[in-house]
Amino acid sequence: MVNLSDFSSFFIANWKLNGNIDFIKDYFSKLQLNSKNGVVICAPNIYLNLLQKNNKNLFSGAQDVSKYHEGAFTGETSVNMLNDLGVDFCLVGHSERRQYFHENNREVLSKSNNLIEKKIIPVICIGETLEDRQKKITKNVLSKQLEECVPSNSNFQNALIAYEPIWAIGTGLTPKLDEIDEVHDFIRNFDKKFKNFKILYGGSVKASNSIDIVSLNNVNGCLIGGSSLKIDEFNKIIE
Ligand code: PGA
Repeated sequence: MVNLSDFSSFFIANWKLNGNIDFIKDYFSKLQLNSKNGVVICAPNIYLNLLQKNNKNLFSGAQDVSKYHEGAFTGETSVNMLNDLGVDFCLVGHSERRQYFHENNREVLSKSNNLIEKKIIPVICIGETLEDRQKKITKNVLSKQLEECVPSNSNFQNALIAYEPIWAIGTGLTPKLDEIDEVHDFIRNFDKKFKNFKILYGGSVKASNSIDIVSLNNVNGCLIGGSSLKIDEFNKIIE
């Protein structure tokens, strides 16, 4: 299992439904790692065993996992299957899974539990909609997600939290730095066990804003979608 304490920050690439074999070859020939940060590449499942890992600071991740262990569930991939491939991390509760595939907090909790049991690190994603933010109920929404999605046996060594305001994902919009700071501070203090958790920010992270975002006190890395597909941009972010 990855020792999360070995790194001050994590940078997680979420390729979503993108990439192919040529893309992967080119990507890893250009990826420039440094030893301070952990880097995780979350690829579509079919490519997971093509991803390079060095088990020092480069790791592989899935973008979702089935809540079922086995049986007649066409199209699903189980925690055991990810474990067989040596996958280190798995996103859970990404807003696109919630929005397009109706994933709910109960499922996020159950998937996170199953992953922890198999020593795969769940990256538990939470975030508010634009409407929530405008109604000033961001903290209520996040509280409910934290209460209902984060397993009771999780800790800073076996799980990560990613705060991703839904309205910032893929839109080029980001909250102001003090707004990100405020939310991360809120999550950090929500439960005493979150004191040492790594809390990542996601949503329109790019090379030009990542330095400011990760320099915030309670931000311990980023979850990066669009910009992780451009290797030159991603190299600058993880630099
Ligand atoms: P984005 O996506 O960086 O393209 O906004 C982030 C994510 O979906 O995790």
